[in-house]
Amino acid sequence: MNADLISAALRGCDMARAGRIRSRAARTIRGMRRPFIGGNWKMNTDHASARSLAHAIAEGTGADWAADVVVFPPFPYLLPVAEAIAGSPVALGAQDLSGEVNGARTGEVSAEMLRDVGASWVIVGHSERRHTIGESEALIADKLSMALGSGLRAVLCVGETRAERDAGKAHDIIAAQLRSALAAIDAAAMDDVVIAYEPVWAIGTGITAQPADAGEAHREIRSALAARYDARLASGVRVVYGGSLVPATAKSIFAVDGVDGGLVGGASLKAHDFLALCTAATVGVAAS
Ligand code: PGA
Repeated sequence: MNADLISAALRGCDMARAGRIRSRAARTIRGMRRPFIGGNWKMNTDHASARSLAHAIAEGTGADWAADVVVFPPFPYLLPVAEAIAGSPVALGAQDLSGEVNGARTGEVSAEMLRDVGASWVIVGHSERRHTIGESEALIADKLSMALGSGLRAVLCVGETRAERDAGKAHDIIAAQLRSALAAIDAAAMDDVVIAYEPVWAIGTGITAQPADAGEAHREIRSALAARYDARLASGVRVVYGGSLVPATAKSIFAVDGVDGGLVGGASLKAHDFLALCTAATVGVAAS
């Protein structure tokens, strides 16, 4: 393997750790939740465009950026993206991981491998993995435990389908997804979890949830967290929104009380739009 790439990845990892310590300190001092914004590139980009997108995002974020900014490229581009963001405040995340440690799992990628190439975050329970690929609640719970137990931070996605919402079951579905995923996660590990409320009907459809609906879902998520843990923990966990976020819709979503940022798909593939969303999250979340 290319030694320069590996050392760049490790530098990225150190940056991520330093950012993590700073972010906890900032939260403690101000008693506020630090905004989080993630770019989920899904199965998009190629080697060259992944590098240039990562470079542009790294260049657009200053040293004292007041939000956690994380990019989630496809597996093959983790190392080149680690190199491109090294020395910037942008952290590296993966879109998935195995629930197993290692061994005979053809095609799978372990938590240790992700850490080895400089990833500090991973997405767990994305609706495309739940509904298109068919991951079970049990597998999602295993993946979350594996991520946190291996020192990765996780974005746990929850959200209802259109049919579930129309049947008035949205809140029950979200609460059940949280109960199942968090059953084996203790309170201390929740420092390393961001919850993403991603209504399935809003993902990739161009339909952003109404701010009031997003606000209601976020309140439900916090009350489910309070029931599982306690009110203090529930008010400290970051809960972000995902689903057709674009600069034009972000302002009203980020202004909602309890929305701490976003997980962005389509708009994260354009540096200009993603950076506008990062700025909106920093400004909007701080003001809400
Ligand atoms: P979208 O995707 O912004 O393209 O709707 C969001 C996500 O899937 O995380």
